[in-house]
Amino acid sequence: MTPSLKTKVAIIGSGPAGLLLSHLLHLQGVDSIVLERKSRDYVLSRIRAGVLERGTVNILRDSGLGERMDKEGLLHNGIRLGYAGAVAGLDFNALIGEKIMVYGQTEVTKDLMQAREQAGGTLIYEAANVAIHDYQGDSPFVTYEKAGAVHKIKCDFIAGCDGFHGVCRKSIPAGNLEVFERIYPFGWLGILTETPPVHEELIYANHERGFALASMRSDHVSRYYVQTPMDIDLADWPDARIWEELSIRLGEEATRDMVTGPSIEKSLAPLRSFVAEPLRHGRLFLAGDAAHIVPPTGAKGLNLAVADIRLLSAALISWFHTGNDHDLTHYSDTALRRIWKAERFSWFMTRLLHSFPEEGNFAHRIRQAELDYIIKSRAAAVSLAENYVGLTDDLI
Ligand code: APR
Ligand code: PHB
Repeated sequence: MTPSLKTKVAIIGSGPAGLLLSHLLHLQGVDSIVLERKSRDYVLSRIRAGVLERGTVNILRDSGLGERMDKEGLLHNGIRLGYAGAVAGLDFNALIGEKIMVYGQTEVTKDLMQAREQAGGTLIYEAANVAIHDYQGDSPFVTYEKAGAVHKIKCDFIAGCDGFHGVCRKSIPAGNLEVFERIYPFGWLGILTETPPVHEELIYANHERGFALASMRSDHVSRYYVQTPMDIDLADWPDARIWEELSIRLGEEATRDMVTGPSIEKSLAPLRSFVAEPLRHGRLFLAGDAAHIVPPTGAKGLNLAVADIRLLSAALISWFHTGNDHDLTHYSDTALRRIWKAERFSWFMTRLLHSFPEEGNFAHRIRQAELDYIIKSRAAAVSLAENYVGLTDDLI
């Protein structure tokens, strides 16, 4: 084994959670090392959702990462809901004075990565067989393999920011975790196209044939999704078929001027609700997708990871600066209050907008009625709006 490295916080995973934690700790003089199993390029090649809540926008701006977001991001007043062949707007700005920022997660990750590299941060990519050790004691450490050698990192804390399929949560004995899960009987078939968005705002549409979403990455790159079963063969879904389904599900009014083109990326993603409790296990803390998964219908995944990191970074900084462990002790309970509110909203949006197999025509009429009520009732619209833009702390 090579000589041990030492750091205050060993962060497993260089997605948004891990990189943001490393960045926020650095700003307060707390050293960390980020360990990532994939290559830097692979991490930056991932296509992920791109709607930022106000809390996420504020943390990025306040930590010096707002410049490109504010220059290239798209500020939207709200979203559109499509149902019964029509499209109706939900103007969050008019309803609650809040907007949403459309800025791809890939761009957030790129900005975070650049900030850490410019600050001389230690980001170790292609780290194989990462393993966490003695996190229930006072001297945790991490091992990993790279360039044919085994390396050891001694640390004070380990942050499990390694996503749903990571090693950290799976290293916790099953008896020490309670898992809550719902797997949805469908997925999202997504395409990325170099075409102008069909609408200036996102359109979430419900149709008897299934859900559809029209989103974007910029004014010339669009992101579309259609609900499909999970057992489809992508070969049976050529671009033409996807464009046809989008036209039907989004409706004639919304797609009259839709510009079609070849997909530059096509993928099928499963939908799952998942929470593992608690988030603290001795000197190991779980955050982001390592701790929870939401169906993307509520655009909460990235924002929930950021909310976890806002709490965890503050708690770790407090401990290193003052020795006070109050916030570390309460990290899990405090984070879980927001996590479960986001799980509820994501489940609500998924139930509201998707057609579930074997549910029959009654459920479809109820869904249409609920969408119509949300569009016409200020109270119902405000409720959706305050959840979509991100609940304020007093509502958590
Ligand atoms: N060792 C090291 N790194 C690992 C390991 C491991 N054993 N397992 C996974 N990783 C890395 C992954 O390669 C990934 O880069 O951890 C990172 C986890 O990043 P994300 O999955 O993006 O999770 P998170 O940072 O919590 O961000 C959540 O990302 O996936 C989206 O929809 C999700 O928007 C949400 C956001
Ligand atoms: C996306 O642009 O990829 C996107 C937007 C909103 C969602 C999910 C995905 O709710």
